[in-house]
Amino acid sequence: MRIAVCPGSFDPVTLGHLDIINRAARLFDKVIVLVSYNTQKTASFTLEERMDMLFEVTNGLENVLIDCNDGLLADYLKSRNACAIVKGLRAVSDFEYEFQMALANKKLYADAETVFLTTSAENMYLSSSVVKEIAHFGGDISDFVPPEILTKIQRRLIRTPRNP
Ligand code: PNS
Repeated sequence: MRIAVCPGSFDPVTLGHLDIINRAARLFDKVIVLVSYNTQKTASFTLEERMDMLFEVTNGLENVLIDCNDGLLADYLKSRNACAIVKGLRAVSDFEYEFQMALANKKLYADAETVFLTTSAENMYLSSSVVKEIAHFGGDISDFVPPEILTKIQRRLIRTPRNP
């Protein structure tokens, strides 16, 4: 069985992520969407919230599982016998960072390959940070996140006196 892991912060999951997950699910027998820690980022949503949103939006995908990991991705891949890491690439600006991660992961666990899927044209500019910024100021994010979790994200991120 060919198992792929789609790792990320998913803070929150966007339509761009969901597109990559859907496409990965067609390429591999099983896809594990792995909510992971990025030491460079401070999350807006808790780990549980991010996982719940992923559960909700991947509901119909039979070969997709949601999991989390607070260690190295390479160790997780080994423990699951996964053969690939699937990541989306948007622009050249993503490339250097992703290339470095791919090489480091290959060094740590040589049995898995990093597979890059080019983002769909309509998601070129989309990122969780852009979504969070727009939602914070009350802008319309309905084109960027799955409809099932739209309200949850808006309520959580909108600027309020307690969250200025
Ligand atoms: O969505 P992100 O924040 O770009 O995803 C980055 C993530 C979480 C996949 C990456 O930071 C990660 O793999 N973290 C786990 C720790 C690890 O294995 N780091 C890579 C070693 S170079």
